[in-house]
This record gives sequence, C-alpha cells and structure tokens, in this order.
Amino acid sequence: MASISAALLLVCYQISVSFCPILSASVVEDLNNLQPPLDFHSTVANNCLMNPSLRYCNYSSTDLPNIFKSTIVADHLCNESKNLNCDALFTKIDLRNRPKIAPLYLSFTFFWRYCPLTILSIDLSNNSITGAFPSEILYCSQIHSLDLSHNDLSGDVPTQSFSPLTNLTLLNLSYNHFSESKISDSPFFERFNSSSFVHSGLLPDHRKFKIKAVILLIGFPIFVVLMVGFLGWLCFRRQDILPSVLKHRHNFTPTMLNAATAGFSEKNLVGKSRGVEIYKGILKDRTEVRIEIYNEKIANQIRRKFVQECQILVQLSHKNLVRVLGWCDNRGLRAIVTEWTDGGNIESWLSGYPPWKHRLKVLTGLMEGMYYLQEQWPEVDYDLRASSVMLSHDREPLISRFKVGEQNSTSKKIYRLGILLMEMVANRRPQEDSEKSETGFIEWMRMNYPGNVENVIDGRVKKAGGGASEQAGQIIGIALTCTDLLTNRQPSLDQIFNTINRLYASSLAFESPNHKRSHKERGEWHKRVQSR
Ligand SMILES: *[C@@H]1O[C@H](CO)[C@@H](O)[C@H](O)[C@H]1NC(C)=O
Ligand SMILES: *[C@@H]1O[C@H](CO)[C@@H](O)[C@H](O)[C@H]1NC(C)=O
Ligand SMILES: *[C@@H]1O[C@H](CO)[C@@H](O)[C@H](O)[C@H]1NC(C)=O
Ligand SMILES: *[C@@H]1O[C@H](CO)[C@@H](O)[C@H](O)[C@H]1NC(C)=O
Ligand SMILES: *[C@@H]1O[C@H](CO)[C@@H](O)[C@H](O)[C@H]1NC(C)=O
Ligand SMILES: *[C@@H]1O[C@H](CO)[C@@H](O)[C@H](O)[C@H]1NC(C)=O
Repeated sequence: MASISAALLLVCYQISVSFCPILSASVVEDLNNLQPPLDFHSTVANNCLMNPSLRYCNYSSTDLPNIFKSTIVADHLCNESKNLNCDALFTKIDLRNRPKIAPLYLSFTFFWRYCPLTILSIDLSNNSITGAFPSEILYCSQIHSLDLSHNDLSGDVPTQSFSPLTNLTLLNLSYNHFSESKISDSPFFERFNSSSFVHSGLLPDHRKFKIKAVILLIGFPIFVVLMVGFLGWLCFRRQDILPSVLKHRHNFTPTMLNAATAGFSEKNLVGKSRGVEIYKGILKDRTEVRIEIYNEKIANQIRRKFVQECQILVQLSHKNLVRVLGWCDNRGLRAIVTEWTDGGNIESWLSGYPPWKHRLKVLTGLMEGMYYLQEQWPEVDYDLRASSVMLSHDREPLISRFKVGEQNSTSKKIYRLGILLMEMVANRRPQEDSEKSETGFIEWMRMNYPGNVENVIDGRVKKAGGGASEQAGQIIGIALTCTDLLTNRQPSLDQIFNTINRLYASSLAFESPNHKRSHKERGEWHKRVQSR
C-alpha cells in the first residue's frame, strides 16, 4: 500500500516541481491547460518498475496523456472527498450530496480506468445521478464499500461484473429505479442482504407485491366466478357452440331442437295430443330423433324431478326399449328426445294381419324388454298399449313411454300384458282408456275360453294351421290369468316369459316333441282359469 501511495506521490512530486501547488479551483480548467511534464514518461516507467500492479502499468505509452489527466482528476477528487492527506493517501471518494460535481467526476472514464489502488470506499449517494449503472466505478475492483443510494439510476445492474470485487462488503443501491432482476436468487443477492436494495427496483417491492397480492386475492375469485358463470351459461344455454367433449351428452338446448326440427316446422310435426307435441327431427350428426315437447307449465320442483327422471331414462339400454337420447329442460321448453322408430307401432302392425309366428316373435322381444326393466330398473314404468309399443325396422318390439318413480305394481303390468296378449291373438282391442270396454273385452274372451276360442282368434291365425290356433288358445289362457285381478293367481313375468318362449320355439319347429309339451302347458293354464 505504501508503494501505491508513493506512486501517486511520485507523479505529484515530479509535477509539483513545476505545477502541483498551483492546481486551479476547477478540474476542467486544469484538464484543458495542464500538459504532462517532459519527463512524465520516465516517471511512469519508474513507478511501474517499483510497483507493477499499478493500473497504468498495463497500458501502452500512447496512453500517457490520459494517465497524466487521471492524476490531475485524482488530485482534485481526493481534495473534494476531504481525504486528510492527499499527498500521502487517497482512501475514499466521498461525493455524498454533491449533485453538481458527482456526474462530472463520473464522466472522466480515463480516471476510473486508472483508479488508484488506495481507494477503499466510494460514496456517490444522493446525487440525482441519472442513466444506466455507472459500470466504470467497477474498475476500482479493490474497494470495500460502494454507496449509490438515492439516485435516479435505471436499467439493469451488471451483477456479473461484481464478482472481481472480492473485498466489497458494503453495497448500497437503495432508492433507485433499476429494472427488477430476473435472477433474484443469484450469488450477487446472496452476497448482500436486502437492506442493500431497499426501493432499488431490483427486488420485488413488498408494497407493490402486497398490492399485487391484494388484487390477486380479490381479482382471482371474481375472475373464477365470472368464468364459471360464463361456462355455465355456455353449458346450459349455448351447448351448440361448445366443443363436443364439454357437452352434456344428453342435454339438448332449445337451439339444438330448433335446428333439428327446422324451427319446429309444421312439416316435422308428427303428432299432437293434450299438452304434448311430437316432432321428427334430425340432429347435427344426421341421427333421426323423435322429440316430445311438453307444453304444460310446471313448478320448479316438478321440473327438477323431470330432469332426475330423464337422467335415469338415458341409462336404459336394451334392444327392446326405445332409446332415450336426452332431454331439454329450459324455462321455455321441456322435451324428451328419443330414437326415431320407423316400423310404426304394434297396433298398426297388427292391422296388416301379420303371421302368427311373427306375433310370437314380437311377444318374446317384448317380454325380454319387460324382463330387463323388472330386473335392472324396477322403478321404471312403461305403457304396454298396442299403440305405445313401437317396432323397429327389423320388427323388434320397442317399449316406450317410460315413467320413473311411480310405484306401479307388477300386478298392473301383468294385467296390461294380458290385454296385449289378447289383442295379439284376436287382432281386436278394447276402446282405449275405457274401463268398461276393457272389462267387456276380457269377458268376451273368458266366455269363449276354452271351448270356443275360434270365435275370438284372428282369421289369419285360424287359417294358418300348423298348431297356430292351438297356441293362440294357450295365449288366451295365459292372458286370462294375467287379467284376473280378483284371485291371487296372476302368473309371474318369469312364468309368462318361459311359456311364450317355448311356444315360439315350438312354432319354429312345429313337428318337434315340444308340440306335446305345449299340450301339457295348455292344460296348466286351463286349470288356472277354470279354478277361478
Ligand atoms: C494486465 O493485462 C493482463 C492481460 O492483458 C491481465 O491479465 C492483467 O490482469 C492486467 N493487470 C492489471 C493490473 O490490470
Ligand atoms: C480543496 O478542498 C477545499 C475544501 O474542501 C477547497 O477549499 C480547496 O480549494 C480545494 N483545493 C483545491 C486545490 O482544489
Ligand atoms: C439529499 O440531499 C439533499 C440536498 O441536496 C438533502 O436535503 C437531503 O437531506 C439529502 N438526503 C439524504 C438521504 O442524504
Ligand atoms: C482484497 O484484499 C486483499 C488483502 O488486502 C488483497 O490481497 C486483494 O488483492 C484484494 N482484492 C482485490 C480484488 O483488490
Ligand atoms: C444487513 O446487513 C447489515 C450490515 O451489513 C446488518 O446491519 C443488517 O442487520 C442486515 N440485515 C439483514 C436483514 O440481514
Ligand atoms: C442503504 O441506504 C438506505 C437509505 O439510505 C438505508 O436505509 C439502508 O440501510 C442502507 N443499506 C446499507 C446496507 O447500508
């Protein structure tokens, strides 16, 4: 250290012979007027011989004018910084609260490049210095403390350039406008604690952070609520514009139904009864559907029940049930969408006098559907009238008109099945919704059974031969037990199912031994009816 201060001294000493004592009041004046002494070159060479670590030793002789100028600046700056002994030691640059001259000294790049090794602390705080970080200061790599607080510095801090300053322990960049560092966990920030960067802009400001946090805390939930609301609106009102993955598979919007029926046009209206309009529609994916629209105004509670029912119905899955595709539950529009069936219903099919074998086949399918519902969905009721059981294009019966939750007794279902069995045999039916007509119909059957069944069996069946009349008679026997509500002799679905299956099997292979068993069965059903 002694040799370093001696170096400065030496220069000054050499200069002082002629100039040193007469430095003017202004550093700028001296820089303009003073010339290096003639032997300045040899003075520098001597100094470097004695102490090669001096910064100017590394530069070529062509830089002599700058080296000389740096000694002038050093002299002035040492005095300005109130160092006690500028002839011997220049230990600190203290330009705190000197906004007039601090920027000037900062601008002497040549000085900083030859920064005297004696300087250990630099204080440039509270000077309203603007612009980028004054990197030239870092030439003084030996310093222990650097204070740039309370200025208007901005932009990035070259944190990498601090690594050579191994002795720097005190750094203050507080109260500036630096850009926030993207790497706030770099070694630089581990080296100095946060009090070096108070309001420097480098670290996230806690107050700003707090404001951000508050905005986030309040704003985020609002955002979420709005998003949920918007999605809800999309899901319930505008499903048509949702991507297909987000769609409720079974939920139809009025918009979708409107599109499917060409605006509920008359030409698509296929049926109409009290409170219900039935349309044929075509969905976007070209599926043909039947849309039942309910016009009746209902209370919200019932509407909820309607949806719950629909949610069950869409789960029904059997080849002998009309497939329920979905529903629409909207304040203005309530509807159920089912598959479109183009084979008509059993009533219209019977009017074409289908062959007996086909009738039995249809009955087995019907039984399968009923059996499935009884086993899997006992809470689901359905309409067994010939006009409500539909037929698919390949003559599979399709049960329809489902109702959920009404504890409809099995007995009632068996009764309705009995009536349907009679209709299948006689190709006649009681007047719809007329109990009197129904009792009359049953009574007519009973009177003719078993002696005069030919009176009630459809002519086509009678003519068919091959045991058809006989089988039809047996069906009447079953049907009569089914409709017998007074005694407890109603057969179970199982029993009816088995019998009809056997009848159908034997109708397929009439000459087989099954024929005989049919006789036996007939006897059984006959006994049941007679014992009444
Ligand atoms: C001088 O320059 C050399 C290479 O140019 C460098 O390695 C060395 O650190 C420098 N010395 C000083 C004191 O700057
Ligand atoms: C040195 O500093 C004092 C005040 O600190 C000032 O009065 C004086 O003029 C300065 N001398 C030179 C040569 O700059
Ligand atoms: C900064 O300097 C001004 C005068 O230029 C002074 O009034 C103020 O107290 C100083 N602030 C600090 C923190 O030193
Ligand atoms: C730090 O101080 C030590 C001891 O005074 C010294 O040897 C070393 O050169 C200094 N480091 C720098 C970068 O000046
Ligand atoms: C930061 O360092 C200073 C001195 O270096 C010390 O006084 C202060 O307690 C430290 N603050 C924290 C938060 O570590
Ligand atoms: C830096 O300066 C600010 C303001 O003058 C002060 O609050 C802080 O403690 C200082 N930090 C250090 C490490 O000196």
